[in-house]
Amino acid sequence: MKNKIVIAHRGASGYLPEHTMESKVMAHNMNVDFIEQDLVLSKDDVPIVIHDIYLDDVTNVAQIYPEKKREDGRYYVIDFTFEELKQLNVYERFNPKTGKQIYPKRFSKKTQNFKLHSLQEEIEVIQDLNRSTGKKIGIYPEIKAPAFHHQEGKDMAKIVLQILEDYGYSTKNDDCILQCFDAKELRRIRKELKSELFLVQLMENPNETLQLKEFAQYADGVGPWYRLFLSETVDNKFTFTSFIKDAHALGLQVHTYTLRADDLKEFDSFTQMLDALLFQANVDGVFTDFPDLAVQFLTAQ
Ligand code: G3P
Ligand code: CA
Repeated sequence: MKNKIVIAHRGASGYLPEHTMESKVMAHNMNVDFIEQDLVLSKDDVPIVIHDIYLDDVTNVAQIYPEKKREDGRYYVIDFTFEELKQLNVYERFNPKTGKQIYPKRFSKKTQNFKLHSLQEEIEVIQDLNRSTGKKIGIYPEIKAPAFHHQEGKDMAKIVLQILEDYGYSTKNDDCILQCFDAKELRRIRKELKSELFLVQLMENPNETLQLKEFAQYADGVGPWYRLFLSETVDNKFTFTSFIKDAHALGLQVHTYTLRADDLKEFDSFTQMLDALLFQANVDGVFTDFPDLAVQFLTAQ
């Protein structure tokens, strides 16, 4: 693996609606190292590339299948067959209560032609683009909400691992990184399901930074939210905790999320954010909605 990698977060999602095939093709053209696939199972056990177990914040499900709303007011991917899901239109992420886009400057909701797709469909496009362009861009699938899937009687990890193997992804050399927030499930993927893939333990809570040694028992890397190791910002200078050094000392790579040029928070510019995280903090990779900017930044070094 390269020294520093760029992961297209939900595709080139700063420019086209997240997880659409169009956003993945655009990301491929940006020469990223990996393209991300968040995965949720359909009723008929097809891994769908979508960020949430819900459909109503990126599709027109409420108009097409109003009768399928659950008591909590949400529409669940798992209640629909792949064929039914294919009938929906996909839009730039919005608040289902107000209809307003989360990132107002991004692609508008006017275009009606974007569709959901499966993991298999996306792998086939990426592999064929690799063939036709001579590139070697990897995939970075995430097992979403495994506990929810188990409750619904589904073993998503098993299904996904089989598909990955069918498409040639089974070892650390196969341009595939498998990620999950759920530590119990990722450990199971390594220990019980015997996966030899490069595994990344995602992290979102500060108390998880105390679990690095545990994670190193089964994972090859960790994927923390950058706020877990950004300790302080004073006068535009950043200080970091020992997290990255500690992870490296345990042999863990660190891929941090999520870098957004239109949501800079504590940073003045996207270049400053890239420099702080990739070089001052010394992470090994970044998940970003604007992968072209990260590739350009690294190329210019
Ligand atoms: O998977 C790492 C990155 O994608 C951040 O998580 O919530 O966007 O899937 P999320
Ligand atoms: Ca993800």
